[in-house]
Amino acid sequence: MALDALLEEVRNGDLPTHVGIIMDGNGRWAKARGLSRLEGHRQGALTAERIVRFVVKERLFPYLTLFAFSTENWARPRHEVDGLFALLESFLREKTEEFIDSGIRLLVVGDHRPLPEGLRAVIEEIEKKTANNETLTLAIALNFGGRWAILRAAKDLLRAARSIALGPEEVGEELFRAYLPTGSLPDMDFLIRTGGRLRISNFLLWELAYTELYFTDTLWPDFDEEALLYALKDFQRRERSFGKVKG
Ligand code: FPP
Repeated sequence: MALDALLEEVRNGDLPTHVGIIMDGNGRWAKARGLSRLEGHRQGALTAERIVRFVVKERLFPYLTLFAFSTENWARPRHEVDGLFALLESFLREKTEEFIDSGIRLLVVGDHRPLPEGLRAVIEEIEKKTANNETLTLAIALNFGGRWAILRAAKDLLRAARSIALGPEEVGEELFRAYLPTGSLPDMDFLIRTGGRLRISNFLLWELAYTELYFTDTLWPDFDEEALLYALKDFQRRERSFGKVKG
């Protein structure tokens, strides 16, 4: 189907508010072409850029969360980790003006502390400069782990409970959720994972409770506008019951 017709079809259905993507398959894409893994990540960054531009241009949904680096990814070879951080830093530096002009609010969720100084600085700068943008909130999960996030929320809540005399019975889902690094984002409606693996890999854990999941064999560097629209069409076929029986 031509892209325009597909877009029209997708526009006629219900669109999600918050979409997440686990961008997997950069390494395999590179290996199949005799390239270095870093070359795969470079291509992956171009795909991320393309998808973000498309979502903004077509106003497909207002929240997008990309899983860029997990707390487990430190176990990769040092030069791959360094290369990924360098890639992210130059990506963010290059895109600062475009983010500001196109209405993107950048939010980086994850433990910033162990990240290289230059990367932390550019994150802080863009987060500040784009804080009032509203077209798309782009959350990049960086040095992020679902378990880390829940544990951090529990620790912060315990600390707060001490100072404001909060009892265990007063801690409900809504309050706990506010302490998560994603506390300012709405629930995730739809999660796409590329690269053929059928798992969550310690991405958002609390937030995925009722999320529709979509897995595709397409490797992330090959994912494009058409692939996103097909995924959204699939989302539109789902019946979301949130655990209830529909009448
Ligand atoms: C998984 O592929 C991908 C990553 C660990 C990194 C994702 C990073 C990017 C796409 C680049 C920059 C991101 C942004 C937001 C600009 P893999 O290496 O695990 O692939 P494999 O499973 O084929 O080895």
